[in-house]
Amino acid sequence: MAGLEQRGVWAALGALVLVSGGAAARGHNARGLPGYDQLYRPQVHFSPARHWMNDPNGLVYFHGWYNLFFQYNPYGSRWGNMSWGHAVSRDLLHWQQLPVAIAQGPRSMIFSGSAVVDWHDTSGFGVGARVPLVAIYTANPRHGPGPQTENLAYSTDGGRAWHKYAGNPVLNIGLRNFRDPKVFWYAPRREWIMVVSRAAAREISFYASANLKTWRHTGNFGPAGDTRGVWECPDLFRLPVTNRPGQFRWVLKVDVQQHRSGTGGGGQVFVGRFDGTTFRASAQPPQALDVGEDYYASASWSNLQGGTGKVITLGWMDNWLYAQETPTSPWRGVMAFPRRLSLRAQDGRVWLLQRPIAALAQLRTAQRQLGSFAAPTGRTLLAVPPRGAAHEIRARVFVGQRGRFEFTIGSSDGRDVRIGYAASSGRFTVVRSGHYRFSPWFDSSNSARLPGRPSIIELNLIIDRSSVEAFVDHGELTVAERMFPRVGAYTVRVRSRGARVEQMDLWRLHGIWPVRR
Ligand code: FRU
Repeated sequence: MAGLEQRGVWAALGALVLVSGGAAARGHNARGLPGYDQLYRPQVHFSPARHWMNDPNGLVYFHGWYNLFFQYNPYGSRWGNMSWGHAVSRDLLHWQQLPVAIAQGPRSMIFSGSAVVDWHDTSGFGVGARVPLVAIYTANPRHGPGPQTENLAYSTDGGRAWHKYAGNPVLNIGLRNFRDPKVFWYAPRREWIMVVSRAAAREISFYASANLKTWRHTGNFGPAGDTRGVWECPDLFRLPVTNRPGQFRWVLKVDVQQHRSGTGGGGQVFVGRFDGTTFRASAQPPQALDVGEDYYASASWSNLQGGTGKVITLGWMDNWLYAQETPTSPWRGVMAFPRRLSLRAQDGRVWLLQRPIAALAQLRTAQRQLGSFAAPTGRTLLAVPPRGAAHEIRARVFVGQRGRFEFTIGSSDGRDVRIGYAASSGRFTVVRSGHYRFSPWFDSSNSARLPGRPSIIELNLIIDRSSVEAFVDHGELTVAERMFPRVGAYTVRVRSRGARVEQMDLWRLHGIWPVRR
């Protein structure tokens, strides 16, 4: 598969340009740890202290800790040596990075996967009363064209120390592109379900197991919807339809690896039914998971509220087209802000809604209320200095039948992200342009229709040094994009034509990292 093979070449190069973590480097404190304050270092999003990160893996909540594992190169700032890095949080806001949880072996790298709490010790990995956490990951051969296989690792100390299972692999169908297992407990049949991608075939396969060790194939889904790139990182979960009491739907999310710019983050969402064996999509076109360019490989947390159906997801805020070229150091790779998901019936279909988790409000400080105004010639809302704070903006804009507005986040040399809506077309547009010399793929333009043709648009923006996220209305449409303003300084402006801001609130956000300067 081209993308991964190309990454292999990059990995070899990456080994030659290891980023040093010397105390003399800018932004490092006396103990030689990066102070999370370098140019472009996000202040309210997780990024590793140093080195390369891609997909979130093994998201699992256990005994008061949110575990975040992630695709990690412990030795360099490009893709390679893939292992599971680890960070933990009590509130999904503040993170503490821990040592590598599952390291690559001599024969295979540790690719993406999921983790579960095996409450009934079906796997037999438990020790005494200690409940095992079990990670299910893809082993990717380091040498030669062998198959990708599904494997287990387990922890009996709540997720800190991990052991690879001696009986690995637990699933090997001899296929070279067979990866990213998402496992969950399916209560009606008292079985584990694995959702896994036959990436090159653009198919998702379903397997069932009583003990996580032996798996039986129960069904397939796809190809469907967007099949232009390989399919990766499936996720499957059930949610209530909030405005149809008593109704539930299953959501199958599949990422499609980007093959050119201007196709959005790549995630597509199918809404339908799952009977414990296979998924059937409702007769509605798939929904784009995110309209921006930088939202990939998202996954949902396992074991939230004891499995009562709350769905919170985390995505990698990047894009394979240029992820290895982004101008950050001594780390590369950022997670998006965690999202709370729900479903709503509208315009004859069921929409997936995504909003920032409510805990975001805990970071707010220094509120400014701008009240009501029109900005036909533009109004500067914020001027953020290099290495400045992250901000949140909430706005209600009256657009009527023909009004339009646009937010521009960018630097004086024209590197910007413009996010706007035009009521006459009903379309939301995201344009990124400027002097992004580090990659020809970076400048892009995306647009999507907003359901329901509202005359008032509600917008929630999170802007953080090198990223912009927008959540529109109830969350029917979201945008995640990276940006690299000149010397890290940018302004946020708004312009309206035939539209009026009815209310706008701005907050500076507390940074999530301990201040170590
Ligand atoms: C998605 C992906 C996965 C794979 C991992 C390797 O971004 O390509 O399919 O498991 O990255 O790092």
